[in-house]
Amino acid sequence: MALRKIVTVGDPILTKKCRPVVRFDEKLHTLLDDMADTLLEANGVGLAAPQVGILRRVVIIDTGEENGIVELINPKLIETDGEQTGCEGCLSVPGEYGIVTRPMTAKVEAQDRYGDWFEMEGEELMARAICHELDHLDGHIYTEIAERMLTPEELDKIAAGDEE
Ligand code: CO
Repeated sequence: MALRKIVTVGDPILTKKCRPVVRFDEKLHTLLDDMADTLLEANGVGLAAPQVGILRRVVIIDTGEENGIVELINPKLIETDGEQTGCEGCLSVPGEYGIVTRPMTAKVEAQDRYGDWFEMEGEELMARAICHELDHLDGHIYTEIAERMLTPEELDKIAAGDEE
């Protein structure tokens, strides 16, 4: 278990398409465990492997719900429904937030850390996180599709809210 360095916007690695995982070995498990440590330390909701410099189709999500950290290897979006518009941030775009419209529900098919396929459906924050993280695997960041970024005044309000 170790912390990995989070790559920030401007680094070309974040614009690259990731390759599928083919070996579900100790190296993958170490990556997943390190990503979990890194996500927890950064207090984030999700992290994709390219954000720690690894161009593989690996994503972890922790919405703070009882299901804990969800690991998605080689994930594919198979169904989306509805729409939600809200605030979104990214550990690779520190200190900024934008308004992004995403599906309200998202169903994904993925492999677990042992290579077994499963399906899961997420709503609200989970659906937003699934879409956000899967975009990273194809080299896309939410700022490309944000309706607008929050102003410094709006960011101050959020920061003040966090202290309460
Ligand atoms: Co992100």
